[in-house]
Amino acid sequence: MGNFKEFDPSQIERREIYRILTGSIVPRPIGWASTISKDGISNIAPFSFFTCVCVAPPMISLTIARNPDGSKKHTLINAEETGDFCFNLVSENLWEKMVDTANGYEEGISEFSEVGIESIPSIKVDSPRVKQSPIHFECKTHKVIELGPNKHPLLIGEVVYFHVSEEVLKGKYIDMEKLKPVGRLNGFLQCSLGEFLERSFQDGQKR
Ligand SMILES: Cc1cc2nc3c(=O)[nH]c(=O)nc-3n(C[C@H](O)[C@H](O)[C@H](O)COP(=O)(O)O)c2cc1C
Repeated sequence: MGNFKEFDPSQIERREIYRILTGSIVPRPIGWASTISKDGISNIAPFSFFTCVCVAPPMISLTIARNPDGSKKHTLINAEETGDFCFNLVSENLWEKMVDTANGYEEGISEFSEVGIESIPSIKVDSPRVKQSPIHFECKTHKVIELGPNKHPLLIGEVVYFHVSEEVLKGKYIDMEKLKPVGRLNGFLQCSLGEFLERSFQDGQKR
């Protein structure tokens, strides 16, 4: 690969670290966290620092950066105060609306109505779901871990109920061609799926 430029994270600025991480760990799946405040205001925000961390019980994590002034984002405040949140996967037809919901709105204003996204009630949690999303996870807040000296919050939720639209199912599997997930790259770039690459491996039986 030729010469490498080297970076010591203890010697470079935070935004430079961010650029390396978000340009390397790609594409990151995007979904909306939907929550409700203790005063009953519903909220949605997109997250791409999102992954699955446990299968039994099912758990997911979201890394929720602090606002530039050090305060917590509404998603985290709500998930801590009410004890639950939903995570809703974003498919291609929703990607522009998804980006618009990341614009900061004043406390008390719901992105659902501002951006024209419909909410529907959940079965086991108080947080609403996003009707247009193909997959919804209803989660109970399991733990918030504060990482490093800046207390960077990592929200871990236990999925207590799954909703998977029949429109994205093919038999027992979720069909990638129907799901049409959206990924985040770096900067303002998002992506859709490209060519599929399939090759089996020894201990990876098809589940
Ligand atoms: C595609 C996309 C992915 C994002 N991923 C994250 C993320 O993983 N973590 C984060 O803290 N903010 C992320 N953001 C920014 C938040 O969505 C944004 O700060 C939002 O306004 C927070 O809203 P809240 O205060 O209602 O929680 C992302 C924005 C976009 C457009």
